[in-house]
Amino acid sequence: MTLATLGLYGLGTMGSALALNIAEKGFGLHVANRTDDRIPEFMDEAGELADRLTGHDDLAAMAKAMPAPRAIILMVPAGAPVDGSIAELLPHLAPGDTIIDAGNADFNETRRRTAELEARGFAFIGMGVSGGEDGARHGPSMMVGGTRASWEGIRPVIEAIAAKFDGAPCADHFGPDGAGHFIKTVHNGIEYAEMQLIAELYGLMREGAGMAPAAIGARFGDWNAGPLKSYLVEITAEVLAATDRTGIPAVDAIVDAAGQKGTGRWTVIEALKLGQSASAIEAAVAGRAWSADRIGRAAGAALFAPERGAVDLPADTLAEALLAARIVDHSQGFSVLAAASDAFAWDLDMARIAEVWRAGCIIRSALLDDISAAFRDGAPHGHLAFAPAIAETLKSVLPALRRTVSAATASGHPVPALSASLAWFDTMIQARGTAALIQAQRDFFGRHGFDRVDGGAGRHGPWWG
Ligand code: 6PG
Repeated sequence: MTLATLGLYGLGTMGSALALNIAEKGFGLHVANRTDDRIPEFMDEAGELADRLTGHDDLAAMAKAMPAPRAIILMVPAGAPVDGSIAELLPHLAPGDTIIDAGNADFNETRRRTAELEARGFAFIGMGVSGGEDGARHGPSMMVGGTRASWEGIRPVIEAIAAKFDGAPCADHFGPDGAGHFIKTVHNGIEYAEMQLIAELYGLMREGAGMAPAAIGARFGDWNAGPLKSYLVEITAEVLAATDRTGIPAVDAIVDAAGQKGTGRWTVIEALKLGQSASAIEAAVAGRAWSADRIGRAAGAALFAPERGAVDLPADTLAEALLAARIVDHSQGFSVLAAASDAFAWDLDMARIAEVWRAGCIIRSALLDDISAAFRDGAPHGHLAFAPAIAETLKSVLPALRRTVSAATASGHPVPALSASLAWFDTMIQARGTAALIQAQRDFFGRHGFDRVDGGAGRHGPWWG
């Protein structure tokens, strides 16, 4: 397979970092940016690596200068800029060339773009890239969707620039069209849930136990040495230890309204469309939306003057609660992936997904090592939490989650993601739940019918005579 000539368009933070990573691994790369004055500046930043980089004034000039077959990576904001870049590129491409969208795209758009481009003889790859600026520069985790042939054309480059776990690249091809972007979206959904869970525990320690940020940071630091080891726990420890230039804890200098670009919300939307529920992720998206409603919260605080009680749980209890809820949010994420895999006939390799998330990406963690092993041992499709090794851990830490949620809610501390995780668990271990009543109600008001437990005939209740 001929290695394609590589180009990269969009030298923002992530694009620049990825371009330098590619050049550092020994590959030649053509680069262009929306504004051409960025090129000389970028060449300066590249230092010795500039020898492997060829700058162009614009996207069309870059495409024209590149020998075919070309593979052009777009590092532009999701949505219209991707379509605009593709439209600009097309007149200068030849059949067999590949366009790679390496941003956080809605996988529905990736599927549309793939169909449009493949119909014209071009290849389109939707590639999820995780790890922030540092990851892009020194080794991101990458989730690729597209044809196998187009993957083979860029594979040596992608594997060379990827993060490595035990020497193996944290990048792979997972399926056609939108598969890579879908996996990245679910990665981000899990990222949202993990961040929300950490923030809820921070809140309990701060407001419930009256601990100072630095002391809480030290606790997260301790946790990072055990089963909770993860990039997000590690950076939480660092953030909470930091002091702002005004002398107060850095976290106290920040407005408590969380931003979001949409990937967490997309996970929830797609989960619901697939008949799933990723309730821990939904709680995290809701938590961000509620946080952004500062005027509403201020009015609520003034009206209800909440008095929050003390919650002083042992550190081990809080740590176990976090681990239990993390197992649930990962389990929900993998259920969504399993449902999408079935719905789109992607045949996703769950073990491989967990493996490429073990290094480079934002949710990398010790738990993902266990999850990878669980999938390799044949974890049930769509039910990660019930894989023997994972279920054993969950059994041991679940009481701490229950204790934490009980204490928090009894004292007025909001813990939406912890609560959602516990509710999911309590529901999923009920062989017979309460939905029979819902079926009866549906039949009562709308003759919707139901299945009988004895398998017998008759789909309506006695209320219909
Ligand atoms: C990653 C991240 C990244 C994402 C940011 C911000 O995997 O490197 O997920 O892709 O853009 O985390 O996302 P929000 O602005 O939605 O929080």
